[in-house]
Amino acid sequence: MKAAKHVAAIAAGAMISVALASTVSAGDYKADPKTFATNYEHITIAPEWTGEDKLQLKLPKNFRRWVFIGAPLTPHGLNGGRANFPEFHNVYVQPEAFQHYRDHGVWPEGTIMFKELQLVDSHGMPGEQADGSRFEPSGRGYFPGKVNGADAAVKDSTRFPESKNWGYFNFGHHEEPYMAVAEAKPIAACAACHIANADEDMVYMKLYRPLVTPLKRTDN
Ligand code: HEC
Repeated sequence: MKAAKHVAAIAAGAMISVALASTVSAGDYKADPKTFATNYEHITIAPEWTGEDKLQLKLPKNFRRWVFIGAPLTPHGLNGGRANFPEFHNVYVQPEAFQHYRDHGVWPEGTIMFKELQLVDSHGMPGEQADGSRFEPSGRGYFPGKVNGADAAVKDSTRFPESKNWGYFNFGHHEEPYMAVAEAKPIAACAACHIANADEDMVYMKLYRPLVTPLKRTDN
């Protein structure tokens, strides 16, 4: 009897760890429809809204555990010494949104593109070059340093129909901690440029396509 209970406990433990693993791995991610947010059919890690009009976005928790899809870089050294965003732009998306995009080619309602800025680590380091690059054993380049701010874009056709279904948020352009809540930005400040220039559904997909595409020689 005691042994049987023990076996049952191990089995339960195994099930829990499988369930936990499935919330963070994106490879063959299978979302559980029972846990979808009521207002987002395909998302469990849903955007959290607050404020009187429910248009303010809470800083998503644990976004560094989401799927990382790319890191565009526009350093000072290549922008006349004064880039607006000289950091790596590390972009993360919820695992379920990632899987949904792979399966259907569209970002589902509730998708959060989370962009965390990460400074180039060069200032005052020995060997720093005039363009902000420096050397590592791998060669001369731009290397990641301190994090320095966070932006988000959220797909929600109910809240943001006038900016092609996406709302834009800034949680501060500085080191952590970031703001806990951010207001939706005016269209002119953010969405307008995405409307004019992004290549697919308001997102600069060509920059993320390589990491969103399944590997060629395996089944994921
Ligand atoms: C002048 C054009 C322009 C403006 C204005 C702009 N963006 Fe972007 N945004 C881009 C470009 C280009 C990329 C992709 C390349 C990069 O990150 O450098 C991007 C990428 C992003 C991403 C990653 C997902 C994606 O769509 O590629 C987020 C999130 C984002 N921007 C949020 C914002 C927010 C929030 C604002 C306003 C505070 C804003 N953007 C204003 C041009 C713009």
